Amino acid sequence: MNDDLRDHWDRRYAERGIDDLEEVGPYPLFVDHADLFPSEGTALEIACGRGRGAVWLATRGMSVAAVDLSPVAVDLARTYAQNCGVAARCSFGVHDLDCGLPAGDSVDLVLCHLFRDPSLDAALVARLRPGGLLAAGVLSEVGARPGRFRARPGELREAFGSLEILGAGESSGYAWLIGRRPSSV
Ligand SMILES: C[S@@+](CC[C@H](N)C(=O)[O-])C[C@H]1O[C@@H](n2cnc3c(N)ncnc32)[C@H](O)[C@@H]1O
Repeated sequence: MNDDLRDHWDRRYAERGIDDLEEVGPYPLFVDHADLFPSEGTALEIACGRGRGAVWLATRGMSVAAVDLSPVAVDLARTYAQNCGVAARCSFGVHDLDCGLPAGDSVDLVLCHLFRDPSLDAALVARLRPGGLLAAGVLSEVGARPGRFRARPGELREAFGSLEILGAGESSGYAWLIGRRPSSV
């Protein structure tokens, strides 16, 4: 178990709370592409933090399972979902992604925002039902200095090359990709 990492994120989330999350909406990286996201079906968000992405998806009509290493984040996410009236469509759990993805059925959407672990790439794609979407947003070296947690130029397109790319970009220190699992894979 990542005790130090968990404590680090617990402290950060305990300081932040959810007061700044009043307005429900997509992560900024996906704002211009929100129409691509499903408005029904099932979703998995990994490293969900305070539940911003999961709650937005639930308000669109999806049923969302979401996990994070930090119990404090998960508690905040549950409260946020309740405040937004979508608790019944959200299920939040504590899970260490170093142990792989949480068990579960294939989903219509996998969302991963500002968390990158290349060892999970194949599992993320495998979790998609045929026709399902992956939405990934990460820190990038493009437009920023190289760093331990930043994706290399082209890394997301390379990692998720088996998907039909619906949109992708990298600039100003961020990279994002939305891809569809082909029906035949
Ligand atoms: C930069 S935050 C992003 C949170 C959220 N996706 C967002 O964009 O607001 C990174 C998140 O990854 C989580 N995290 C880090 N390592 C993890 C692990 N091994 N397993 C699960 N979650 C992890 C942290 O607790 C934190 O919530």
